[in-house]
Amino acid sequence: MDAPEQLNEAVLPQSVIAPLTRAAIFLVVCIRQDPDARASLRSFCADLSGLIRAVEFRDIEAGLNCIAAFGSGAWDKLFGSPRPAELHPFQEIRSGGRHAVSTPGDILFHIRAKRMDLCFELATHIMDSIGDAVSIVDEVHGFRYFDDRDVIGFVDGTENPRGDAAREAVLIGDEDPAFAGGSYVIVQKYLHDMKAWNALRVEAQENIIGRRKLSDIELSDAEKPASAHNALTVIEENGKQLQILRDNMPFGRPGHGEFGTYFIGYSRTPRITETMLQNMFVGRPPGNYDRLLDFSSAVTGSLFFVPSATFLDNIGPNAPDPAEASAPPPSAPPSSADDTSLRIGSLKGEKDE
Ligand code: HEM
Repeated sequence: MDAPEQLNEAVLPQSVIAPLTRAAIFLVVCIRQDPDARASLRSFCADLSGLIRAVEFRDIEAGLNCIAAFGSGAWDKLFGSPRPAELHPFQEIRSGGRHAVSTPGDILFHIRAKRMDLCFELATHIMDSIGDAVSIVDEVHGFRYFDDRDVIGFVDGTENPRGDAAREAVLIGDEDPAFAGGSYVIVQKYLHDMKAWNALRVEAQENIIGRRKLSDIELSDAEKPASAHNALTVIEENGKQLQILRDNMPFGRPGHGEFGTYFIGYSRTPRITETMLQNMFVGRPPGNYDRLLDFSSAVTGSLFFVPSATFLDNIGPNAPDPAEASAPPPSAPPSSADDTSLRIGSLKGEKDE
């Protein structure tokens, strides 16, 4: 794979590589089943970067950014062909009593900033624009907990790739040239059984995560069990570690006994995160699974593609609807099997005048 530094400079990625922030909102929506909804969403795509800039500029220091990502079915409905090479629905995993569920989701908005009010403001404007075109599937407001800890008390994000390594890990290069500058993202909402977790001795928790709880220092190879979270999520190919970029966020409602981690992982191919999930849920080798799952249940799971910002900016308000383009004209006989030419909508890179 060519390094993404060789990306065509005209292609601007969305702000996938952004520093960890104090606040985030994760919005997952499904598209209503009508052509007007799809048309208004296409038109919204082109407006999104302007909307983000308008809210961001109210406090430029707060680093507001927002990523819009599209599920496999949504891609076909909104943009048609061509489609990103590895875009597919999230594959559920069942093993023992463990279950990585696959749940509906057409569009993910990942909004982050140092201040929750800016995230809230942007989410409000987004919903003002597209509220009639979508239904909300999930909305999570995440917060940073002390020194970047998750609610189970461990520092989360330490081993994320940084700088060029992060770009290399998340941005598509020449392996899928039509979608260079894009990325894949998998999200899962986990709920923790805090009573059971807190009943463990700290050393037992450290063996599950693979790091010291207070200092965040990694356990030595001699100390670390093969089932540790940071053993099962390290993937190597040809001697090289394959990485993803995470921006997990704690969330919860103590009054409802709800304590959770919103997992979000970006990568240039979904295969890496999928392999990590296999290792966690099934085990490496099978049976040697991630004990964090004895205390944490995944209640959502979805996979999305993050097109470049340039792709979104270039979607014209009058772009044709791929669903309508593939439907036979009302009075015409059904198209013959080999007549597929009119069935394929192509929007990528087209600018509507
Ligand atoms: C219950 C949800 C999860 C929690 C609370 C959690 C927590 C943590 C913590 C505390 C660390 C150690 C510090 C760090 O390097 O960030 C870590 C590392 C890591 N986690 Fe998770 N995690 C969760 C789910 C996942 C999932 C679903 C994946 C991937 C599919 C994943 C992938 C990783 C990776 C790649 C590392 C770094 C391993 C290394 O290079 O040392 N995590 N996680």
